[in-house]
Amino acid sequence: MKLFTSVHDVPNIKQLIADALALKASPYAQQHLGKNKTLGLLFMNPSLRTRLSTQKAALNLGMNVMVMNLDKEGWALETADGVIMNGGKAEHIREAAAVMGQYCDILGLRSFPKLENREEDYSEDFFNKFIKYCGVPVVSLESATRHPLQSFADLVTIQETFKKISPSGGDLEGARARIPKVVLAWAPHIRSLPQAVPNSFAEWMCRAQEESMLDFTIAQPTGYELSEDFTPGAKISFDLDEALAGADYVYVKNWSSYKEYGKILCTDSNWMLTNEKLKLSHDAKVMHCLPVRRDLELSSEVLDGPNSLVIHEAGNRLWAAQAVLKTMLEELR
Ligand code: CP
Repeated sequence: MKLFTSVHDVPNIKQLIADALALKASPYAQQHLGKNKTLGLLFMNPSLRTRLSTQKAALNLGMNVMVMNLDKEGWALETADGVIMNGGKAEHIREAAAVMGQYCDILGLRSFPKLENREEDYSEDFFNKFIKYCGVPVVSLESATRHPLQSFADLVTIQETFKKISPSGGDLEGARARIPKVVLAWAPHIRSLPQAVPNSFAEWMCRAQEESMLDFTIAQPTGYELSEDFTPGAKISFDLDEALAGADYVYVKNWSSYKEYGKILCTDSNWMLTNEKLKLSHDAKVMHCLPVRRDLELSSEVLDGPNSLVIHEAGNRLWAAQAVLKTMLEELR
């Protein structure tokens, strides 16, 4: 695996999940793989979880790590070709990426969308040029349209916990005998957020659904439909209560409109998950990628309650990142 930018880069998701859980059981068993290898983590935007979990994952594998907030600490980057660089941008991505590839064996990059021009954001121009010119394997730390390390950790969390969840009747064997119903539930927010997390979550869940690992539904208000490129086979509902019926996992997330690009079309607080709404589900576990705005996007009573998996889920970011880096390091040798 020379690239990790989407689920399409992963030939065998069940093997990658098994790798993540094996690393969780024995975090330092593969330290030899990263000896004298360097990971560079480059951020154009803020991060808590992605930065620390990927850094720790690399250290667990014996790698050296360099982290740079490229937007604040680097030169302003030009990405357009054929321009005379007589403006404010001091360095072209062609040289910048190629130079960083000289110092690192693997590079990670985070670059959010501007949410102004859909075609521009969805072309992933910055990411694609970075990959083209750096000359080393690249891990997405979240691009304009996807957040694969998050989605992979989410799938690991579902696979890891479902077998341990007893349905309301307490029949653990029954839980094993069926697949979980997973619902991606849109939630209100005061800011326009990217579609990267829901796109990516949908893409990974649709792939898992294809492999009969789970059943996947998206619940959203009208106008919040994601690009169909990311949702093949997903059931779509415009009624949160209806979608919650029988749900084993509810993945709460806000996103701005794809159709009316970047716009906020709904602020209805009835879309916020509460304990009352959770009663409609199959005692569902609740997930969120974090950061989350309490009592706006997700109620405190759910976040602090026994069904919340958000901290466990964030913990699994480490093992997901470690499994991805391990696979890349094995192919470097
Ligand atoms: N979930 C996530 O990616 O968190 P950070 O933005 O803090 O990295």
